[in-house]
Amino acid sequence: MQHIESERLILRDFREMDADDLYRYASDPEIGPPAGWKPHASRAESLAIIRMFLADDNVWAIERKSDGRVIGSLGLHKDKWRNLPDARMFGYVLAQDCWGHGYMTEAVRRAMSYGFLDLNLQLMSVSHYTFNDRSRRVIEKCGFVYEGTMRKTFLRYDGAVFDEAIYSITKEEWLARRSIS
Ligand SMILES: CC(C)(COP(=O)(O)OP(=O)(O)OC[C@H]1O[C@@H](n2cnc3c(N)ncnc32)[C@H](O)[C@@H]1OP(=O)(O)O)[C@@H](O)C(=O)NCCC(=O)NCCS
Repeated sequence: MQHIESERLILRDFREMDADDLYRYASDPEIGPPAGWKPHASRAESLAIIRMFLADDNVWAIERKSDGRVIGSLGLHKDKWRNLPDARMFGYVLAQDCWGHGYMTEAVRRAMSYGFLDLNLQLMSVSHYTFNDRSRRVIEKCGFVYEGTMRKTFLRYDGAVFDEAIYSITKEEWLARRSIS
């Protein structure tokens, strides 16, 4: 992944030496399950996930400049609803002790600029399970357009089934928003 920076954050490739930081937040039951995945059971599992991120080349580590700690991850994935080559879908999680400081909103905004200006994407999308108000707030603050809610889209590893709220933003909409903000 391209190394990019915002005021307080660095978005960069994960490194194997980040396994402790990743395990610290990915083992927290408040992190993976709301995003659809099982908490990591061991540091070894987190290391294996880092190797997968590096092989797939689609997830940034979010490093906080003030202490160099990896506090979360931000993925730029193939859009699961669209087959457009120039569309990407976000996925993200943040360590719980870092919530509420606008970090993820800052990271997503920076990645949107990179996506539309450097990758020349025509559309970026994101979704959240309908119970996830925290993620909805990040999405709203980043200016995504609500497209609707799909019912029973996701069966989680524990058998829970969720409805999903879906959002997107086109390059034109993002440029127009940027010009007024
Ligand atoms: C969703 C998430 C990334 C938000 O990151 P963040 O950096 O805290 O985002 P923000 O600071 O912009 O806060 C977003 C909202 O979270 C809520 N929030 C803020 N501080 C909080 C806290 N300390 N505890 C709980 N919720 C809080 C508020 O509703 C806030 O909205 P507001 O700005 O209108 O008040 C983070 O909560 C997270 O990683 N959750 C678990 C994984 C997850 O749900 N990922 C998304 C899957 S779609």
